[in-house]
Amino acid sequence: MANSSRWVGRVAIVTGGSAGIGEATVRLLVKEGMKVVVCARKLEGLQTLAAELNQNKAESSVLPVQCDVSQEAQVLEMFNKIRSEFGRVDICINNAGINLGNAGLLDGSTESWQQIINVNVIGLCICTRESIKLMREKGIDDGHVIHISSFSGHRVPGSSLLHFYSASKYAVNACTEGLRQELRAIKSNIRVSSLSPGLVETDFNKVAMKGDFDEFMSSKQTVSPEDIAQLVWTCICQPAHVQIHDILVRPTQQVH
Ligand SMILES: NC(=O)c1ccc[n+]([C@@H]2O[C@H](COP(=O)([O-])OP(=O)(O)OC[C@H]3O[C@@H](n4cnc5c(N)ncnc54)[C@H](OP(=O)(O)O)[C@@H]3O)[C@@H](O)[C@H]2O)c1
Repeated sequence: MANSSRWVGRVAIVTGGSAGIGEATVRLLVKEGMKVVVCARKLEGLQTLAAELNQNKAESSVLPVQCDVSQEAQVLEMFNKIRSEFGRVDICINNAGINLGNAGLLDGSTESWQQIINVNVIGLCICTRESIKLMREKGIDDGHVIHISSFSGHRVPGSSLLHFYSASKYAVNACTEGLRQELRAIKSNIRVSSLSPGLVETDFNKVAMKGDFDEFMSSKQTVSPEDIAQLVWTCICQPAHVQIHDILVRPTQQVH
């Protein structure tokens, strides 16, 4: 893969890295020689992952941080930790995202809508802003921000369970292009890319689908979290003058 060696020893942050796509991405980045700050709301899964990946290493590669990205104070605290432990960040992978059951447009709760926006959009923007601030403070001009968006940010799915979530991912895609324009305006070479998966084999839809989840997943073809992690790596390993804007990827048999 072109240009992968330049990331060895450098620092990535992966939000929502204790499960699914985030976890697979953390594993791949560590395998490729990066140091990784990994956050999620629950500390337990993070600690287990960090203990496994730091095992038998003279120096820890993984720094687990309990942080809800929708809580600005917690995100700022996490960046203070990154400053003191690693002193820099080179790649920010905004992966943390949620959907909730009670979020249809006709009868959803305002609270559910707010939670989805606060995590999927505001949390992502706070992490991006703080990452780029730190990159620029440290004179890092080849950094990369990745947004894990969704196919639902490109077409509105035919299920009310996904309509507000879909709106949040359309917003993520607007943030990708807006950020690209703002970075160009300040003559920065920091890149931004989106990844827009269809159905991935994770527990993501469990909360929204409740009892229907297992049957739904067993009836569908999926791509794996590792497939998505590999595409993240493809984006960040492009030569400096190549910016992948978005990758839309779905299982071959997915209908829409
Ligand atoms: N799975 C799919 O079919 C699919 C398709 C398209 C796009 N995506 C997107 O892919 C991303 C990852 O999804 P996934 O399928 O890997 O989900 P997942 O398996 O449910 O994992 C979600 C991760 O995010 C963390 N998280 C959730 N809310 C958080 C918050 N407020 N702050 C920090 N961490 C938080 C979770 O840990 P805690 O619960 O401990 O916080 C967990 O580590 C999401 O943005 C999702 O929208 C998923």
